[in-house]
Amino acid sequence: MPVLIGILRKYKLKDKAKILMYDKRKEIRMAYDLRYGDCFKLLDDIPDKSVDLILTDPPYNIAKYSTGNIDLPGRSALNNDLADWDKPEIEPKDLLANFKRIIKPKGNIFVFTTYNQIGKWHEVFDPEFDTFQFMVWHKTNPAPKIYKNGFLNSCELIVCMWNKGHQWNFSNQKEMHNFIQTPICMQPERLSNPKHPAQKPVKLLEHIIKIASNIGDTILDPFMGVGSTGIAAYNLKRNFIGIELEKEYFDATHTRFQEHECKMKEYAMSNF
Ligand SMILES: C[S@@+](CC[C@H](N)C(=O)[O-])C[C@H]1O[C@@H](n2cnc3c(N)ncnc32)[C@H](O)[C@@H]1O
Repeated sequence: MPVLIGILRKYKLKDKAKILMYDKRKEIRMAYDLRYGDCFKLLDDIPDKSVDLILTDPPYNIAKYSTGNIDLPGRSALNNDLADWDKPEIEPKDLLANFKRIIKPKGNIFVFTTYNQIGKWHEVFDPEFDTFQFMVWHKTNPAPKIYKNGFLNSCELIVCMWNKGHQWNFSNQKEMHNFIQTPICMQPERLSNPKHPAQKPVKLLEHIIKIASNIGDTILDPFMGVGSTGIAAYNLKRNFIGIELEKEYFDATHTRFQEHECKMKEYAMSNF
């Protein structure tokens, strides 16, 4: 209640209808729960069958294939270094038991992955779920291939799995291709301090959340980075649980949520 009173004072709301509308909106507003630490340990704290959608973007383990920064004639080198968080090997088999325990019977699981990891996800998860499929995210503005000696890295893979009777909001045949196209995350959405090299665009995550969950559902991202899944969940009135190992990303997510919530409240108030 003090929060509501503070807001009413700030916006000098006199009209009871407006207050009721605000209260009504609050009823379906989501809760978010951000946890700092190692998800391989913290997932144990999440109750059985409590999550409707696991939507996550674990490390890709591609650092080992990097050939380092790319020299550019007359300009500073193109940063091709991958973050330290990408180095520890992620084994889907170490996530299986907790994912299966936590997900509700009608839940869905979506995981961003790469060419070098997709086989492991399939091998471990396909036998455990009725369906295992994949989506492609096409980035419309990938980093250029300066020396024109290969493909641009313009696609990312997302594996998805569920059991029969799962929650699924099929819109129409044209919109349900296993393909989505958006730009990579750009300013002003992209955080500048800290910069996260793998920050996903909220629009992309919202697309998946709309298909695979409903208002009021709970979404878990155990590798949340700077919390993009959480922001998408918030926008679509889903509850969110996020876990992040790196303190600076965890802190940035916390601040991002606070700023986003203020922005959304101001927007809601100005539209009364
Ligand atoms: C690909 S990034 C996720 C980026 C995120 N989708 C976003 O938009 O910000 C993977 C994240 O997982 C975190 N991470 C790596 N190992 C982890 C672990 N064991 N537990 C929790 N987070 C971990 C990394 O620090 C990194 O921020």
